[in-house]
Parts: sequence; C-alpha cells; structure tokens
Amino acid sequence: MAHQYTLSIIKPNAVAKNVIGAICSRFETAGLEIVAASMLHLSREQACAFYGIHQGKPFFDELVGFMTSGPILAMVLAGDEAIARNRDIMGATNPANAAPGTIRADFADSFTANAVHGSDAPDTAAVEIAFFFPEGVCPRPR
Ligand code: PPS
Repeated sequence: MAHQYTLSIIKPNAVAKNVIGAICSRFETAGLEIVAASMLHLSREQACAFYGIHQGKPFFDELVGFMTSGPILAMVLAGDEAIARNRDIMGATNPANAAPGTIRADFADSFTANAVHGSDAPDTAAVEIAFFFPEGVCPRPR
C-alpha cells in the first residue's frame, strides 16, 4: 500500500452547519492523519483557478459562486491509499448517489453544496496541495 497525501476541503455549506469536527473525526477514525490545515474564504479569482479544469461546464458559475459564499477548511490528509480512502469516506459526488454513512450522504445539501472535496488521483493531489500549501505540509514522525 502506498503512503499518500490528498487534499480535502470542507466546503462552505458544511462549515456553516458547524460540522467541521464531525467530518474531521471521520477522517481520523478511518486512520487518516491531518498534516496541514488552513481556514480561508476563497476569492472569485482563487476559486476560478482551483476549479479551472471545469471552466466552460454548465455548473462552473454556480460552483464558483458557492465556493466563494463562505469560509472553507482546506486540509492535507495522509495515510495508506489516502486518496481512494478519502473518496470512499466522502461518498459519491452527487449526494443522491452517496452511500449511507458517507460524509456527503450525511452533510450535503445539493450536487453543488456537497460538503467536501477530495483529490481524485496522485497528480491532481500534488497540484491541489501545492495550491493551498505551497510551503509544504507537516509530516508526523513515523
Ligand atoms: S465532472 O462532471 O466529471 O466534471 O465532475 P467531477 O470531476 O466529479 O467534479 C465536478 C466538481 O464540480 C462540482 N459540481 C458539479 N459537478 C457536476 N454537476 C453539477 N451540477 C455540479 N455542481 C457542482 C462537483 O461537486 C465537483 O466538485 P469537487 O469540489 O471537485 O468535488
């Protein structure tokens, strides 16, 4: 099993619901470690840059509007197969398809306000982590 880092974002709707602790607890219970964290309110420019790959898609403006609607918590999670394990814990992107017990099943409000983001592959994880944490992360002693 590969030890990986992945970017996690707790999105504005989940921050507004005051469930940061509940969500982080799920990561920790699953054995993922939080090795970097930053609470911030994205500007439109930052959100457009982060979601640049989706520019031109029909949901892009709604996504950027939502992601700039309030503070987010960006984190780096670390662990064995952290990318896939985080996505399992999050559940399907469309909460209508999210399995019971997943974060999105429990905390999403809509396809756009789906509570969390998680990197989908090692190359995108590296880019996304560098976007929020250009200074690097704080690995735990192993
Ligand atoms: S896609 O369809 O392959 O581009 O979708 P995906 O790569 O899974 O991620 C899309 C991100 O945009 C957010 N979003 C939506 N996706 C699809 N349809 C609608 N209507 C929509 N609205 C918002 C979705 O939550 C994904 O956000 P992140 O933060 O990457 O999980």
